[in-house]
Amino acid sequence: MAMLLKLDGESVRDTRKVASILSPLGVRLEFWPPDRNGGVGALLDRPALSDPEKETVLLRHDAYFEILRTSDGYRSRDLIVLNPQTPGLDGLLSAFLRIHTHDDDEVRYIVDGEGVFGFVLPDRSQVELLVSPGDFVKIPKNTEHWFRLTPGNRIKAVRYFTSTAGWVPVYTGTPLLFAGSSA
Ligand SMILES: [Fe+2]
Repeated sequence: MAMLLKLDGESVRDTRKVASILSPLGVRLEFWPPDRNGGVGALLDRPALSDPEKETVLLRHDAYFEILRTSDGYRSRDLIVLNPQTPGLDGLLSAFLRIHTHDDDEVRYIVDGEGVFGFVLPDRSQVELLVSPGDFVKIPKNTEHWFRLTPGNRIKAVRYFTSTAGWVPVYTGTPLLFAGSSA
């Protein structure tokens, strides 16, 4: 379950309280338990996957994709797999550690590992959201945010897209206040 971390060190675990803190941004949080049946659990437990193995994991969770496709017009999905051996990992992570927005929603469903999404709230304060397996996060377009991994440097997440054009970070120049995020 997602846990919110405040700058003063306070952590918020109550799901409704977390949702209420993020609701002014329009951030949507859900909890969908990953399906580990049919050998998928063994795949999720491995740090790296081949493309066919990624597709196996995706197919196992496509019921969620169908819901998003029907309700919100999502058209494609893929599985991002990051681990300490991922080529270019440092560069990839540094690109998303700076506060940015996207022209499209950022939609992620965590099926293994963990990560942290940070947000700039309307009062310009900042919070971080620790996400782990089962957490579904939809960050509306033009929302200031950042992303980092936890020290294990490992995550598997389904990414959902409304277009095949992809998206790039648009840096806003807002300074990051979380000192612990500079790793
Ligand atoms: Fe982003």
